[in-house]
Amino acid sequence: GSYETIHVERKGRTALLTLNRPEALNALNLQVMNEVVAATAELDRDPDVGCIVITGSPRAFAAGADIKEMRPRSYMDMYLSDWFAAWDRLGDLRTPTVAAVSGYALGGGCELAMLCDILLAADTAVFGQPEIKLGVIPGIGGSQRLTRAVGKAKAMEMCLTGRTIDAVEAEWAGLVSRVVPADELLAEALAVAETVAGMSLPVAMMAKEAVSRAFETTLAEGVRFERRLFHAVFATEDQKEGMAAFVDKRPPGFTHS
Ligand code: HXC
Repeated sequence: GSYETIHVERKGRTALLTLNRPEALNALNLQVMNEVVAATAELDRDPDVGCIVITGSPRAFAAGADIKEMRPRSYMDMYLSDWFAAWDRLGDLRTPTVAAVSGYALGGGCELAMLCDILLAADTAVFGQPEIKLGVIPGIGGSQRLTRAVGKAKAMEMCLTGRTIDAVEAEWAGLVSRVVPADELLAEALAVAETVAGMSLPVAMMAKEAVSRAFETTLAEGVRFERRLFHAVFATEDQKEGMAAFVDKRPPGFTHS
């Protein structure tokens, strides 16, 4: 499709989605939400896409939900339109996603990053849930995903005071997998995505599903779920190929089947 607030390009089996509302530091209005959700759903259906990278600009990944758009709304407006519910579909994607965060990832921006599977940060990244300063609370899962990522102590302080954390603190707290110099962020994110996209797509989907399940269930149920998927990967061509390639001492040629 053609979009106004985002830019989508393909690089081999990787898709790069760039938020593009520079005049508002990529504030996430309904148009951005609808475009990101539509574009990622389309990429998710494409078997030639093995990983989706979501990024913003050097200054801002996204400075939050669009405050000017939300300001006049009533409870009934928010409730009847189920404001922000469509963002949940990003978490339902089967294709692995990478957030490449540079600059501000505040409010909805931090929540969008946390909806992705792998979170890479530039050394310039700033994460926060400053909604309380506006008289609201997180609305795209921030209070839940941040707490699961960094634990109660930091999540509670961040949500109650609006204090932001830098990339170093974010990595130390377990919010991001890695911090890289800002000018290397995109190349690094694309390299990670290319690595993921080079794996068997169905097996990568199952790995994603298995890790994601850890956020939803008990340890015993999660381990049982993993075991079922682990058995299931032996039905793929790619398991045969991956193990044959190891024994033959050659790189595997996965066929995503
Ligand atoms: C709408 C925004 C915006 C936002 C920035 N802008 N963030 N517009 N919604 N979330 C706009 C500014 O109004 C300004 O437009 C332009 O982007 C540049 O921003 P400045 O503030 O001039 O830049 P700077 O001084 O560098 O400060 C950057 C900043 C600040 C620290 C990130 O913009 C800021 O605090 N933004 C809001 C962060 C925030 O509270 N996010 C949470 C939103 S609520 P003009 O036209 O004036 O030049 C949220 C909750 C969701 O996400 C769930 C609740 C229901």
